Amino acid sequence: MIAGNHIVYIIGFMGSGKSTAGRKLASLLGWSFIDLDKRIEEHTSKTIPEIFSQKGEDYFRSIEAQLLRDLMTCTNTVISTGGGTPCHGDNMDFMNEHGLTVYLKLTPAELNSRLSQSNGERPLIKDLEKGNLLSFIEEKLAVRKKYYERSDIIVEGINLNISLLFSLVKSRLDI
Ligand code: S3P
Repeated sequence: MIAGNHIVYIIGFMGSGKSTAGRKLASLLGWSFIDLDKRIEEHTSKTIPEIFSQKGEDYFRSIEAQLLRDLMTCTNTVISTGGGTPCHGDNMDFMNEHGLTVYLKLTPAELNSRLSQSNGERPLIKDLEKGNLLSFIEEKLAVRKKYYERSDIIVEGINLNISLLFSLVKSRLDI
C-alpha cells in the first residue's frame, strides 16, 4: 500500500452488502465513498445490465479495470467493488498494492437467501431459475474465493459488526 494514499477496497460476492458496508465505513472514517459499479454506469452512460447485453462481459471487465486504475489517485476514500472485480486480470494485486482490501465473507446459503430476493438487476444471475441459484453461487464462489481470501482483512458479512471493521481498518492504516 502506498503510504499516505488511503484507500479501502470492499470486496465480496454479489449480494454481500459491499456498498452498504462501504458507505457506513466511509462515514465512520470521515472519508469519501465511491461505488465502482456506479462509476462504470456514469462513465458509459449505460446501466450494468445494458453494458452486459449490448457490449458483453469482456467490455465490462476492461472498463472496470480501467476505472479501478483511474481511482488510484483518490485519498481517504472507501471504494466498493463489483463481485467479479478482484477475480479478473491483476485487479486483486493492484488493490493490494494501492490500498487496504476488506473481504465481506458470507456462506453460499446466506448469499442465496439475499440474492433470491433481489437478483433482477444482476446480469450474471438474472436468467437463472430460482432452484439453480444456490449451485451457481457455490460454483462461482469456489472459483472466486482464492482471490477474495487474499484480502488484508476478512470479516463476517452477515450481521456485519461495522465498529469492529472500523477498528480493524484504523489499526491497519495506523490512523
Ligand atoms: C458482478 C457483480 C456486480 C457487477 C456485475 C458483475 C460479478 O456487482 O459488477 O454485475 O461478476 O459478480 P455487485 O457485486 O455489486 O452485484
